[in-house]
Formats: sequence, structure tokens, C-alpha cells
Amino acid sequence: MKDGSTSANRLFVETYGCQMNEYDSGIVKRLFGDRGYSTVQSESDADVILLNTCAIREKAHERVYGRLQSLNHLKRKNPGLVIGVLGCMAQNLGEDLHGMGLPVDLVLGPDNYRDLPQLVEDIRTGKGGATLARLSSSETYEEIEPEVVSGCLAFVTIMRGCDNFCSFCVVPFTRGRERSRNPDSIVQEVQNLVKNRNVAEVTLLGQNVNSYKMDDGLDFAGLVRRILDETEIKRIRFTSPHPHDFPLHLLELMAEEKRFCNHIHLPLQAGSTDVLNRMNRDYSRESFLTLVGQIRELMPDVGLTTDIIVGFPGETEEQFQETLEVVEQCQFDMAYMFKYSEREHTLARKKFADDVPEDVKLDRLSRLISLQTSLGAQKNRQEVGKVHEVLIEGTSKRSTSDWMGRTDSGKVVVFPAPEGTGIQDLESYRGQLVHVEIQSCTQATLKGIARWEEHPTGFEVATADSTLAS
Ligand code: SAH
Ligand code: SF4
Ligand code: F3S
Repeated sequence: MKDGSTSANRLFVETYGCQMNEYDSGIVKRLFGDRGYSTVQSESDADVILLNTCAIREKAHERVYGRLQSLNHLKRKNPGLVIGVLGCMAQNLGEDLHGMGLPVDLVLGPDNYRDLPQLVEDIRTGKGGATLARLSSSETYEEIEPEVVSGCLAFVTIMRGCDNFCSFCVVPFTRGRERSRNPDSIVQEVQNLVKNRNVAEVTLLGQNVNSYKMDDGLDFAGLVRRILDETEIKRIRFTSPHPHDFPLHLLELMAEEKRFCNHIHLPLQAGSTDVLNRMNRDYSRESFLTLVGQIRELMPDVGLTTDIIVGFPGETEEQFQETLEVVEQCQFDMAYMFKYSEREHTLARKKFADDVPEDVKLDRLSRLISLQTSLGAQKNRQEVGKVHEVLIEGTSKRSTSDWMGRTDSGKVVVFPAPEGTGIQDLESYRGQLVHVEIQSCTQATLKGIARWEEHPTGFEVATADSTLAS
């Protein structure tokens, strides 16, 4: 327990949804930590339980309803317990969440977390429940350093919100308008992560991360350039970009700068231009394929991943076939694949009937998954025999004598730890880069042998200084 915390100041936070929510949960933990709260690992030990929720598909809502029901018994045992719903579902449903017979004291949208500790205090001193779901055009939480470090990896949010209004998507309504964070505070945060927390790799986050823009003209590539020049971070990744913001100078920067990883998550959504138009995605099948071609030309070893929706209103079998064709042509390393789920507030809900029957959606999803699974496995097999630079993250899931890390292109690699070392030695290796020769693969993982002997002065390859010099 941290200094100043008492048994009545124990916080439990559970996070659903995307990395933006992970980051925001880190902001919330920091705000409560500053008030003397400690974080506990089990909800039954907590005085305050916060669920940071997602609204992207109906299933995300259902999970949270189920979870809240399962918390009823804790509330009955301890009426002083405060339960809050945060995040996108809170923003989406607002007041309505109070009237459902669920144990909810507090409902708070993603732009209102600064007020959260005080609201919780008010509830605990008997002032009753609250709802706060004001979207802000300026909140970027910039001077708050969240608790989101995991080993040698960290997230850093650089922009918030979304102005794209893809017709299927609830995010513009739950996260509000696009706003970019001050670059000085981003650089400072990365610098602190490197210096104080031994972070080796950051993932820059935003709903449209590559739409980052400051009034003085600084764009996403410019921001990455600054982070590369002004910090000793070993690797930079980013998610999620939109295909419409990939200027040539950004791709060239990725290709040239070793520390800017060659991994692009490029959401396709659909392979038919007609469906893309109805989705309000501002690219066509052809322009998407052209972009993929340009990326591969500049970065032949790029890792490409994507998101795809099947069963969007009006999607015909022929249009679905076009998605399969584009998937085949793009050769993605991995894809997140979803059935269309109608969402409140969205243009698609207002304009189109959700008319693809459930069994057809399921059938298309399973055909798409089986195609992508075999293409992904084929891509993994092509890695066998290659040597990759891997950043050592930790032990493998199965055994502590195997370690794991990721390639520049984002693939997970498992390899035996150096002979004679044990788990106690991991800390001196974590966050370092090592060459690994790939020898075999499974569906999701590459396996290899690390070339420890290539570092004759002990394990010192690519320390921050040598990476900077390269
Ligand atoms: N900003 C990100 C998207 C975040 S949501 C981007 O543009 O890439 C993650 C993914 O969820 C989307 O890419 C989309 O494939 C999927 N998704 C969003 N809304 C959906 C819906 N209503 N039904 C099914 N999948 C959806
Ligand atoms: Fe949603 Fe489209 Fe914005 Fe992504 S770009 S968050 S899919 S509206
Ligand atoms: Fe979900 Fe909100 Fe992220 S809807 S995907 S938690 S931005």
C-alpha cells in the first residue's frame, strides 16, 4: 500500500476496449494515486470499483452489463462501495445507465476524468450519485503522466477524438472532436519514460493517430522526427492510423529510420468501393491497393495488419467476394475481423436497414477468417530462415526459460534465454535488441535462436546511444 492510503482508499480499475482506454485507465490511476489511493488487484478488496468501458459493438455493452450484475453482491455486502462506469459506453448511455437496476453510482465520459476523484469523494460523503458526460474540444490530459508502463513498453496518447464519422462507428460520438496534444508535453513524457522507467518502446496512440496536426503545421511525421531526435527511445510504433493520412514523407521516414518500426495497422473495413462509399470511408478499393503497393515498395519487410467488417448494410455476396479478393492481394500479416453491429447515433443506423441476416454475417465472417488464417500462416512460414532484430520484452507464456519479443514488423518471436541465465537475469536483458534467426513458426508466433554471441562485450547491442548513432 502506498504512503497515505488507508484501507478505505483502495481502487480497482477494469479496462475494456482499445489501447486508448488502457491509457486513460492509467490517467485515472494516477489521479487517484495522487490522492493517496492504492490500486488493488481484486474487486473484492476495493472501496472504489471503476469499469472503463467500450461501446464499439453491442457485445462490448453486453459484457459490461454482465459484469455490473456480478458486482451486485459486493454492493449488497458493502453499501459504502462506490461503483463507477467510465469510458465510451458511459458517454454513449449517460443518465440511462442509472435507471437499469444495476449497481452504478457514477457515470463519467472520457473527457471528464479530472473531476473523477472529487465526484467519488462527494459520493462517499453522502452527496449521491452523478453523471458527467460533457465532451470537450480541448482536453488532452497533457500534464498528467499515466501509470501505463508494462515492462519496457508504454503507450503515449498524442491525439484524441475523431472527425471522420465513418457511418458504422460510434467513436466520434463517444470521444468527440479531434484534438492534438502539445508536442513538448509528448516529447517530455517519452523522455521521462526512457529515463525514469527504462521504457524502450512507445506506441503512439490516437483514433486517427496519423491525422496529428498542430496549428504551426507540425504533422505526425514531424512529431515522430522530434521524438527520434530529442529522446533515446529505441523503438516507436503507432496505432490506429487512417489510410487517408499517409503522405510520402511519412512513409519515407518509416523506411529510413530504423527506430521508427515498419509496422502499419491499415484498416481496410471493406474491399468494395461501393460499400466503402456507404461506410463514408474516403478511399476506394483501387486507392487502398495503390497505397499498399507504395508501402511495400518502400518497406519490403513491412508488417501489415488490418480491420475488416462483414455484413455492413446492403453488402451483397459479390461485394463480400471483393473483400476476399483485396485480402488475398494485400497479404496482411494479421487482421481483426468483425460482424457489423448497428450503433446508436451513427449515420448507418439512420440511413440503412441492418439487412444482412445474422447467419449470412456469420458465414461471411467464418469464410473471411479462414482465408486470413491461411494467408497469415503462409506469411509466417516465409519468415523461417530470416534473421530479425528483436526487442526483448519478457518470458514466453509457456516457460520462463524461453523469452519473447517482437520484430520490427510487429511479429511475436520466442527464443531460448542465454545459457546459464535464469529469470533473475531477465531485467538486465529486457528492453535490449538481439538478432534472432527464425527456425519455425506456429499460427501466431515465430520461434528462433538468439545470436547472443554477436555481442562479445557482454550484452550491449543497440543501447540507446548506439541506436542513435546507427
Ligand atoms: N480509429 C480506428 C478504429 C477504431 S474501432 C480506425 O479507424 O481504424 C476498431 C475497429 O472496430 C474498426 O476499425 C472497425 O473495423 C470495427 N468497428 C467499428 N465500428 C463497428 C461496428 N459498428 N460494427 C462492427 N465493427 C466495428
Ligand atoms: Fe471510427 Fe472511422 Fe473514426 Fe476510426 S476513423 S474511429 S472507424 S469514425
Ligand atoms: Fe471502444 Fe471507445 Fe476504444 S468505443 S474501441 S473504447 S475509443
